[in-house]
Amino acid sequence: MDLQNLKKEFAKIYSTDESGIKVYFSPGRVNLIGEHTDYNAGYVFPCALNFGTTLLVKENRKDIFRFATTNFEHTAEISIKPPFVKAGKEWYYYPMGVADQFNKMGISFRGLDFLFSGDIPNGAGLSSSASIEMVTAYALNDIFSVGEDMISLVKLSQKAENQFIGVNCGIMDQFAVGLGAKSKAIFLNCGNLDYELVPLVITGHKLIISNTNKRRGLADSKYNERRSECELAVENLSQVKKINNLTEVSYARFLEINDMITSPVVRRRAKHVISENQRVLDAIVALKAGDLVLFGQLMNASHDSLRNDYEVTGIELDTLVEEARKIPGVLGSRMTGAGFGGCTVSLVNENSIDEFIEQVAIGYLERTGLHAEFYVAEVGDGTKRVE
Ligand code: GLA
Repeated sequence: MDLQNLKKEFAKIYSTDESGIKVYFSPGRVNLIGEHTDYNAGYVFPCALNFGTTLLVKENRKDIFRFATTNFEHTAEISIKPPFVKAGKEWYYYPMGVADQFNKMGISFRGLDFLFSGDIPNGAGLSSSASIEMVTAYALNDIFSVGEDMISLVKLSQKAENQFIGVNCGIMDQFAVGLGAKSKAIFLNCGNLDYELVPLVITGHKLIISNTNKRRGLADSKYNERRSECELAVENLSQVKKINNLTEVSYARFLEINDMITSPVVRRRAKHVISENQRVLDAIVALKAGDLVLFGQLMNASHDSLRNDYEVTGIELDTLVEEARKIPGVLGSRMTGAGFGGCTVSLVNENSIDEFIEQVAIGYLERTGLHAEFYVAEVGDGTKRVE
């Protein structure tokens, strides 16, 4: 829905006129390389997409927040007086969780009506939740003149997801969504939040996002299980020398001391994290040198490590990647996000895009019985006020 129609929709839902509506936008994100490194204080390299969540907000002069969306039927109305309580799995607990964080900072609210409209496929690993959180955080910060900077809003949104929603995610998604910039990818050190916006120069190529259309079933519990395995690896390796995070160990050093990790499974989890962290550094060097072939090889190596050592891919993601790699002109293809379903990202020669979409769709359908979806990604800006 375009903005004009969204405003009409807003006026209809809340029986009001279009005056005084504020409009905000927050993108989705795709991670190019550096998977499951963020909660190990490692490096990631995501970028913001040019599609995401639009939010219209207006003061309602009542002591309530009302939430509606063009994407789902569920709506909610709550008192602006806390406590805010999560009582289900509906989408509006994401903005409510963000409001809860502002409340904990001592901000007193006035009543607001919200209309969200998203064009990020849900559960596809393109950060639809971080997008909703960040657009809400940005809007509340603006409307109530709270004065937090973007990085504080990122941290606040991550906290909302960890504490209110109960998903123990790292900081990559909210950071990429908040601080993304057109035509740039974000080289982020998740340990200290130092970052660099790196021009994403992929001349003659495009990033194609392919959606497995497999819902991420047990994803959250598996995600938390991986986090615990990393903690166990840290504990085991700390017998040699105390560390706080796996990414403090170089890959060369890991090869010397990895037998301190007693479980072979946990050893493989650590191997992924430590090797992936190095791959991010190598990928940035390759991109800056214009070596897209090497960048693609590192994307491939990342997927293979996530499949063999971290075991978060699954048949759908592996099939999409295998089919993609058969197409001439594909420099690299890997899963993106948490895994267990969701999307892949592939670096593809512009002349091969049609063939890619046609052939990968056929091969994937034949082997899985599922219909994939494809988006040619454009890199967009981070969270902002539109009007
Ligand atoms: C999800 C989480 C992120 C990150 C990725 C894996 O997207 O929200 O914090 O851990 O998985 O790289």
